[in-house]
Amino acid sequence: MSFYASPSKKIAVITSGGDAPGMNACIRSITQAARHAGYTLTGFKHGYKGIVEQLAVPLHLRDMRLITQQGGTLLKSARYPEFKQPEIQKLASQQLTQQGFDALIVIGGDGSLHGAHALSQYWDRPIICLPGTIDNDIAGTDLSIGFSTAVDTAVEAIDRIRETAEAMARIFVIEVMGRHAGFIGLHAALASAAEAMLIPEMSPLPNLNELTQNILTHHQHFPDNSYLMVLSENLWPGGSAQLAHDLGQQTGIACHATVLGHLQRGGRPNTQDRILATLLGEAAIRHFVQGGGHTFIGMQGEDVCLTPLHQTFGKKKEISTQLLKLQLSLQ
Ligand code: ADP
Ligand code: F6P
Repeated sequence: MSFYASPSKKIAVITSGGDAPGMNACIRSITQAARHAGYTLTGFKHGYKGIVEQLAVPLHLRDMRLITQQGGTLLKSARYPEFKQPEIQKLASQQLTQQGFDALIVIGGDGSLHGAHALSQYWDRPIICLPGTIDNDIAGTDLSIGFSTAVDTAVEAIDRIRETAEAMARIFVIEVMGRHAGFIGLHAALASAAEAMLIPEMSPLPNLNELTQNILTHHQHFPDNSYLMVLSENLWPGGSAQLAHDLGQQTGIACHATVLGHLQRGGRPNTQDRILATLLGEAAIRHFVQGGGHTFIGMQGEDVCLTPLHQTFGKKKEISTQLLKLQLSLQ
């Protein structure tokens, strides 16, 4: 890194919410950039909980060897709903102040950005947020760390299901993650040439009769072929198991459900996520060196892009209409 900063600054970093492949690459990049700038870097384990409960770990360059290629997060993460309480946010602010921190870097999803904004009401030093979630549902960035790897993992799993489904001419409903957003579902459906897809951005959703009709038509034309439906989690009442059961009954064809679940969150980050994470980690330190305040740093196209923190969280990120139309036209 080609900049020099005033030494003796103390920076804290956490990973928060659902872990995502590439978080480690981001921690490594932050550590290297911070050390080059002459800063002291401290991680807190388990997200906001670690700040409140003082679960500090010093981060050294020597600990960063060979973590870029590892999934998960060496800083651990957590769901810590207690942080929604103003008293707990104040406590975190006091801890950071007492320990003399000059900035906090948060790597996490939309909920983590909420938390950062809440903390910023009590702590006036810069809070810099980076997008880390497989869901890719953060406004202000095209991509979040972990999304690309999660899609790759889902597609690999769906390809495997395709082979057995094809051999047996079966129907499968495959449930993918994405708490309230269909980014994983859409990308996985497109890349695996799924015959059907149900994601939250589709309005109205087809009903059971329409889905049944579609399967029967497909079966009439291609009785020897498989039929794969990608379903976003939390969308269909009773989930993939209920839908597969109902479709099996209505069509009279064997219909199976597979929930891909947390296997989509684990695994080695792919090249795109490693590079994205490394770029954003360095950008966070650069932003601090340049005197920036509470900010979200993401990517738009090829460019690193800064957004004031209060303009990001809680906003609905639109899915690509072009990709949505493409999938719907092909299925
Ligand atoms: P993600 O960051 O992946 O969306 P969560 O929604 O669990 O995951 O959010 C991560 C953490 O951020 C929560 O466990 C909580 O500590 C904090 N957080 C989430 N929402 C808020 C909020 N409205 N106010 C304060 N803190 C929040
Ligand atoms: O936030 C990412 C995510 O993987 C969502 O896609 C999923 O709904 C959720 O986390 C699962 O969270 P947990 O592992 O806490 O059950």
